[in-house]
Parts: sequence; structure tokens; C-alpha cells
Amino acid sequence: MNLGLTDKIAVVGASSKGLGRAIALGLAQEGATVTICARNSDALATTAADIRNQTGIEVLAVPTDVSQPAQVENLINTAITHFGGIDILVNNAGGPRAGRFDDLGAQDYQDAVQLNLMSTINLCRAVVPTMRARGGGRIINLTSVSVKQPVNGLMLSNMARTGVIGFAKTLATELAPDKILVNNVCPGIIFTDRIQQLATVRADEASITFDEALANMTADIPLGRIGDAEEFANLVVFLASERASYITGTTIQVDGGMVKGLL
Ligand SMILES: NC(=O)c1ccc[n+]([C@@H]2O[C@H](COP(=O)([O-])OP(=O)(O)OC[C@H]3O[C@@H](n4cnc5c(N)ncnc54)[C@H](OP(=O)(O)O)[C@@H]3O)[C@@H](O)[C@H]2O)c1
Repeated sequence: MNLGLTDKIAVVGASSKGLGRAIALGLAQEGATVTICARNSDALATTAADIRNQTGIEVLAVPTDVSQPAQVENLINTAITHFGGIDILVNNAGGPRAGRFDDLGAQDYQDAVQLNLMSTINLCRAVVPTMRARGGGRIINLTSVSVKQPVNGLMLSNMARTGVIGFAKTLATELAPDKILVNNVCPGIIFTDRIQQLATVRADEASITFDEALANMTADIPLGRIGDAEEFANLVVFLASERASYITGTTIQVDGGMVKGLL
């Protein structure tokens, strides 16, 4: 299948590592130019060089904290100045801190909304004018399976990410006449640094080995294993492509069957 991504221009949030990095690499492998961002500029530069070396595609690295509106504006303006516009926006940020109701203060809720909801809104506000001018585009928001089935102990993720779903569904309807398609993707448990850290914490807490902690995490996954970042990125690359021209307003999980709900 020819995905029609050659020479498309993409911006991928939070992309020096993990899911964002895998998506940026996947888009570049299909011929799209990519702008990547993260807070740590050294790690970001290393990732940009890796993607360039693997694909021969131009990669622009713009150090950015996506929770900061002025930095979001700078990211999008820099990408537009460099490449002439943007066709694809992948919204991604770090995860909010773990915790239950009794562990969290009012500022924790504000911070999570700023990181996971407002970053998405601000990035969309910045890219829609250029997408309209180019006759269409794709916006893909990374959330979590927590939007389909709240995860115990992750109050902030369960709270802030569902706001993204309401925003995106409304935006999908409003931007359909502009041929800007908006969808959400939900990782289940996909092997990245974040999952490695989580397994290390759980191993320490339960006095078990790292491998035992990982095995416990797979217990509820029908496919019996943790996913690979490339398996997750494949869906995002497809949704970003010309072949996904009749899909908008959806929320799709990549979770090995973990979510137990019907939809
Ligand atoms: N992996 C999973 O199974 C899974 C499951 C459900 C949800 N998620 C969510 O998916 C997202 C990505 O997860 P991941 O597993 O890829 O994490 P990861 O491997 O820890 O990578 C996180 C990336 O985000 C960047 N980042 C973090 N905060 C940022 C900020 N404020 N502004 C810009 N970049 C930022 C990090 O670089 P810097 O630190 O240098 O900024 C890094 O490049 C997170 O929101 C996570 O909660 C992941």
C-alpha cells in the first residue's frame, strides 16, 4: 500500500524517546519530513541524527516543553518557517504523575491539564491555520487506554486525557469541511523507558524481579505480551496517511486486547 506520505510535513510532540520517537521514525521511513521536540536538547539532537541516518530524511529538532504555550508557538512557527507549512500534527507529551485522590493537591490537577490537555489545544490552535491554507491535514492525539477504562491509581491521566477526547471529537466535526481529520490513539502497555521505570518501581515495591514485574503487567493482556513502540507507531502512521481519508473523530486503542469494554 502506498501511504502517500512522501514529502508531507509532520510535527511530532515529545519525540526524543518512546512512542513519539517511534512515530517520527515511522513517518520519516514513509518519506515525510519531521520536526521533533522534547525538553532535553542533547537527547533530542541524538534522536534527530539517528532518524536522519536511518532514513536520509530531513529532521528538524526544536527543544520544547509542550506544556508552555510560548514554546508551543515557537515550535510551530519554526517548523512552518523551515518547511513552508504543516500537514500532520501528532500531539504527545509526558505522562502526568501517578496518584489517587488522597495523594493529589489542586496544583497537581492544574499541572496535568496544562501538560496533557492544554498542550493539545495549544498545538491545534497553532497548526490549524497552516493546514487550512494547505487544503487539509491530519491531527492525531496520543492519549491512553485510560480514556476507555480508567486505570487504578492514575487519577490525573484518567481525568485530563478524557478532556482531550471531548475536544478532539468536537474539533473533528468542526474541521471536517476543511479536510482536517482528527483522531485519538490509545496505548495500552507499550515497551518504552516509561514502562521500564514503572516495572522497576513495582519490582521494588513487591520485592520481586524486574522480569516478574513485567510478567505481572502482561497478565491482563489477551495477546500475552507487552507491545512494541513500532507496533503502536504503525497505526499513527496509517492515520496520518492519505489512505486514512475517511477516518475522523475516532478513538482507537493499541493494547493487545487489554481494554475489556465493547467499544
Ligand atoms: N508507553 C506506554 O505504554 C503508555 C501507555 C499509556 C500512555 N502513555 C503515554 O504516552 C506518552 C508517551 O509515553 P512514552 O512511553 O513514549 O514515554 P517515554 O518513553 O518516557 O518518552 C517521553 C518523551 O516525552 C518527552 N517529554 C516529556 N515531557 C515533555 C514535555 N513537557 N514537553 C515536551 N516533551 C516532553 C520526553 O523527553 P524530555 O524528558 O527530554 O522532555 C521523551 O522524549 C506519555 O504521555 C505516556 O503517559 C504511554
